[in-house]
Amino acid sequence: MITVRPARAQDAPMVAEILTEAFHPPVGLNQFAQPWIRASLGRELERRLARPSAHYRCLIALVDARIAGTVEVAIRGLPGTWWMPSFAVQRLLYVSNLAVGVSWRRLGVARRLLSEAEQVGREWNQSSLKLHVMESNAGAFKLYSAQGYEVERTETEWVVGPRKLLLGKRLYS
Ligand SMILES: CC(C)(COP(=O)(O)OP(=O)(O)OC[C@H]1O[C@@H](n2cnc3c(N)ncnc32)[C@H](O)[C@@H]1OP(=O)(O)O)[C@@H](O)C(=O)NCCC(=O)NCCS
Repeated sequence: MITVRPARAQDAPMVAEILTEAFHPPVGLNQFAQPWIRASLGRELERRLARPSAHYRCLIALVDARIAGTVEVAIRGLPGTWWMPSFAVQRLLYVSNLAVGVSWRRLGVARRLLSEAEQVGREWNQSSLKLHVMESNAGAFKLYSAQGYEVERTETEWVVGPRKLLLGKRLYS
């Protein structure tokens, strides 16, 4: 059975483990950098969890009482708008760091986390939600499309380089 609850500071090391496995798999130089990445993600997360904010939540999914996946949801400016003056940055509901441990994939954990993140958005009276996905991440794109997310635009960080999609979903029909 999948249950979802807000993460606590003591969950940070296990959540960092899942994020590292999901976003920094042990390929090439990452093999050597993984312990450092894991520790640094854990410290950042612990800091976020220790400073409760009305409009930030990290959720974790438990399967058989073990942490199987995570997602973060916040009202914030879109990533990549750091150069804009703060008065010009539009704050919106944004989902990030959706990740599921390799052993728990294709069990519906991400679908459940996404739906709980959407519920948090409704509790915060938000009418829509946005997130980014790499264009090459076909599995995640399929998940989002099936949950009603639509492509709003394609972005590239630099002139060349991997393309990412900004997806959006209305929370009320
Ligand atoms: C993408 C990810 C979060 C999916 O987690 P998950 O718990 O396995 O996903 P779910 O079981 O909820 O999948 C729901 C549906 O999404 C689609 N889907 C999910 N992963 C898929 C994959 N690898 N390939 C194809 N379709 C996939 C399927 O339609 C699936 O339904 P089905 O299993 O009945 O066919 C997980 O693979 C992961 O952590 N990947 C690495 C990190 C990442 O890419 N995060 C997303 C960043 S935008």
